[in-house]
Amino acid sequence: MEARGGVELELFYDAYPRLESEFQAALDESLQPRGPELLYELVGDLGLPRGASVLDLGCGEGKHSLQLAERFGFAVRGIDPVPRHIELAQSAVFAAASANAQLVKLVRFELGSAEAIPLGDASVDLVWCRDVLLHVAALAQAYAECRRVLRDDGRMLVYQSFGTERLEPREADWLWRTMRVVPASTDPARTEAAIAGAGLRVEKRIELRSEWGERAEEDDGGGTRRLLRAARLLRAPERYISRFGQPTYDIMVGDALWHIYRMIGKLSPRVYVLKRLPEAGDN
Ligand SMILES: C[S@@+](CC[C@H](N)C(=O)[O-])C[C@H]1O[C@@H](n2cnc3c(N)ncnc32)[C@H](O)[C@@H]1O
Repeated sequence: MEARGGVELELFYDAYPRLESEFQAALDESLQPRGPELLYELVGDLGLPRGASVLDLGCGEGKHSLQLAERFGFAVRGIDPVPRHIELAQSAVFAAASANAQLVKLVRFELGSAEAIPLGDASVDLVWCRDVLLHVAALAQAYAECRRVLRDDGRMLVYQSFGTERLEPREADWLWRTMRVVPASTDPARTEAAIAGAGLRVEKRIELRSEWGERAEEDDGGGTRRLLRAARLLRAPERYISRFGQPTYDIMVGDALWHIYRMIGKLSPRVYVLKRLPEAGDN
């Protein structure tokens, strides 16, 4: 069947519609995506004892530092370069301590950065670094610092997103600039070179693609909510810019697009479980 314009329509209007509803039903079945719980499962697999010393590098508001102490009984030091995060994290510990008084002893926060970790050599059993290293330009220095503070056989768990070949250069330029991402640090090859150069070995490399986004969508429609927000932001920018200002508007658009891009394969997060090697560079 060829239309007058010369376009072949048979597949589109005949073969495809015959399969369309069966195909859609197959797509409505879950692919059992993993969610953020995966990171805690990986920590559990390490079998570290209660009281083990853990650094939450780039701890933000301290949510995961608290979880690591509550779930595993670890002694956690959270560091972050943003004073507001340290204040909020400290308040979160005091709030959580009303239910579990031990937390005040187990969790501490202080200002610091990945490039200059304020901890002694060989003082940590696990470095937990979740969603931080995209902000860091000096990756080699950051990984060398992590190795320095790890004890022999210490582990590091890194969660980080990377750009994929589906992310167009203009999209990448805008997104990285808006989300304060260092473009060079979105290249997995550069990350893996920094890991190897610092004397850390990759024990596990897990490519997550859209799994966390699918998990959120299947659990509570979290993905669709961000899509709806993106639609409103893009359709009525002035409504939000006049109220919240351009820079805040841009970050909100960036945040919504981040999740959408992850969902459609333009960004792919990875988890690395790394092990400290005895000699730097000895892979
Ligand atoms: C996306 S937030 C993630 C926070 C937290 N790790 C989490 O998963 O909820 C990124 C964090 O990295 C911190 N950060 C940025 N640059 C950093 C650096 N050079 N060293 C350590 N942390 C940094 C930011 O202040 C922020 O708290």
